[in-house]
Amino acid sequence: MRAITVPQPGGPDALVWAEVPDPEPGPGEVIVRVRASAVNRADLLQRQGHYPPPPGAPAYLGLECSGVIDTVGPEVTGWAVGQEVCALLAGGGYAERVAVPAGQLLPVPAGVDLVDAAALPEVACTVWSNVVGVGRLETGDTLLVHGGGSGIGTFAIQLGAALGATVLATARTTKHPRLRELGAAHTIDYREQDFVEEVDKATDGRGADVILDILGGSYLGRNVAALATGGRLVVIGMQGGRKAELDLGALLTKRASVSATALRSRPLAEKAAIVRGVRDEVWPLVAAGKVRPVVDRRLPMAEAAEAHRLVESSDHVGKVLLTVG
Ligand SMILES: NC(=O)c1ccc[n+]([C@@H]2O[C@H](COP(=O)([O-])OP(=O)(O)OC[C@H]3O[C@@H](n4cnc5c(N)ncnc54)[C@H](OP(=O)(O)O)[C@@H]3O)[C@@H](O)[C@H]2O)c1
Repeated sequence: MRAITVPQPGGPDALVWAEVPDPEPGPGEVIVRVRASAVNRADLLQRQGHYPPPPGAPAYLGLECSGVIDTVGPEVTGWAVGQEVCALLAGGGYAERVAVPAGQLLPVPAGVDLVDAAALPEVACTVWSNVVGVGRLETGDTLLVHGGGSGIGTFAIQLGAALGATVLATARTTKHPRLRELGAAHTIDYREQDFVEEVDKATDGRGADVILDILGGSYLGRNVAALATGGRLVVIGMQGGRKAELDLGALLTKRASVSATALRSRPLAEKAAIVRGVRDEVWPLVAAGKVRPVVDRRLPMAEAAEAHRLVESSDHVGKVLLTVG
């Protein structure tokens, strides 16, 4: 089969579509013939040599895919050859075939095209487990989503709105109309506005109950300032650095919490539990049209370098897909 390889870590042109050995299904795994994968921010780091796959994961890039089950390995029940699926991966989506632990497979939600389904697993699992699981978002809460135009952000806005929260989102101004269409009640240009002030205005001084943050260090103090009493800050990205000073007094006064999680390195059983939760609680919202894949564009897998350049520029809204065949 062919896969995107990285013979030498570096810029987008380090990505090479090359012949590699076929994957074999281990116990509890299936082989998926890939129809599409999606570019995640983490893939850019892996390409540069900064984010190696966890032990046992496929060596190639790609944290999610859609496609058709091609082979069912030993000890797998409930899945059959020929079924259309999408999957959460620890790696290997940028390829013609990939071995997937059966617990990380999802059916393609009703009404979603097989290619577009590749836009869903990583964002659905990350956003649902952090916003609903860790953040305990409830109907009537205010949710602040940083990076509202990202793959993660576009999904978080829709999920928050579908669950009855008031969603505020930060993004550059050009992306605001799209984010409002997706369900954001207020959009904030983080380049020109102070998001703490804007959250304060939008919530009549109450603050945000849940903040989904992708900036990390550079936003820590201001995120705590933007939290409501009892608020939950959930950090899932460190685009603004990994270190910052935290004023525990501010947290203590608000009885607020700060959590941080990563999905890729979790044990298989934890990922399978998240995938089950997404299937039970999020897939019905997708099938009902309340949450949809947001696809900026589709490019052929052989043009992965172009897709990485686009995601690096952040000019996209939602997901950039890489198609096979
Ligand atoms: N922990 C986990 O398990 C997990 C899983 C998946 C993803 N993530 C993280 O989630 C983040 C989003 O991933 P993705 O693949 O969806 O990314 P993406 O589509 O590449 O989007 C990145 C976004 O960052 C925004 N941004 C940059 N600086 C910003 C700032 N100062 N304030 C607000 N937004 C800013 C950009 O928006 P503008 O164009 O508006 O600047 C862009 O939309 C990444 O940091 C990724 O590592 C974490």
